[in-house]
Amino acid sequence: MTKKTVLVTGGNSGIGFATARLFHERGYNVTISGRDRERIEQAAGALSVNPFIADMGSPEDLKNLASSFRETGLDVLVNNAAIAQFIPLAACTPQDYDSFFNINLRGPLLLIQEMLPALEKKRGCIINVSSIIVNNGLPNAALYAASKGGVDAFSKSLALELAPKGIRVNVVAPGATETPILDKLGLTADQLAAVKRQQEAMIPLQRFARPEEIAQVIVAQAEASYVTGAVWNVDGGVNAT
Ligand SMILES: NC(=O)c1ccc[n+]([C@@H]2O[C@H](COP(=O)([O-])OP(=O)(O)OC[C@H]3O[C@@H](n4cnc5c(N)ncnc54)[C@H](OP(=O)(O)O)[C@@H]3O)[C@@H](O)[C@H]2O)c1
Repeated sequence: MTKKTVLVTGGNSGIGFATARLFHERGYNVTISGRDRERIEQAAGALSVNPFIADMGSPEDLKNLASSFRETGLDVLVNNAAIAQFIPLAACTPQDYDSFFNINLRGPLLLIQEMLPALEKKRGCIINVSSIIVNNGLPNAALYAASKGGVDAFSKSLALELAPKGIRVNVVAPGATETPILDKLGLTADQLAAVKRQQEAMIPLQRFARPEEIAQVIVAQAEASYVTGAVWNVDGGVNAT
């Protein structure tokens, strides 16, 4: 039997890396994409999966990435790559707007657009990784939150648009998760420790998620054949508070 194919964007780190590993363990033919050749090739080697270099901010890279699946088709697209940074709105530059919206919102949408023929071929599914920040605000994160809110919104519309083609579209929305993204937020060590304490105090399960716990839900969503247009929160109970 031919293996199912999956593409995980931002697969060299954190949730993407854990997701690629779990799909690989489940017998999928896995490709991870990322913007940095060295990081992506190192991760692909460690996982024994296929690497592809593509920056989510580059329409040309996304076209090339999708072209590589034109012949084989694609069973599962995991739009996981994103940037996150704490910036007070007063300090946000037009470049910040472009970065957040081009990488976190336009990138996933363009990739889906380019990937449609490959997804149609397999009646595949799309999993967009959003965040619980869409429903639970956080100071200094307006651009990130807006970009993720857009992901939730387009996913529901696309679920309806693509259902007649047999393509499912869903969202996994993690809460606070222990990944390298925390070191990229632009916070000092003390600020980061304070944010972590504050976040943990609000989580009913009293701890951050491990990337593997988000990966479990992404793989489950890929295999949940009657679920489309859904947003699954994976947040240790935050949305129940
Ligand atoms: N960790 C959390 O608390 C949390 C909470 C809610 C939602 N999320 C979401 O979960 C997803 C995974 O995040 P993570 O926590 O695993 O963070 P991470 O470890 O920083 O992983 C993010 C991945 O995205 C890649 N990426 C960033 N910009 C890119 C670009 N322009 N082109 C291609 N790849 C790019 C990164 O590549 P580089 O290594 O080259 O930077 C990295 O592989 C993201 O969508 C994030 O918003 C995370």
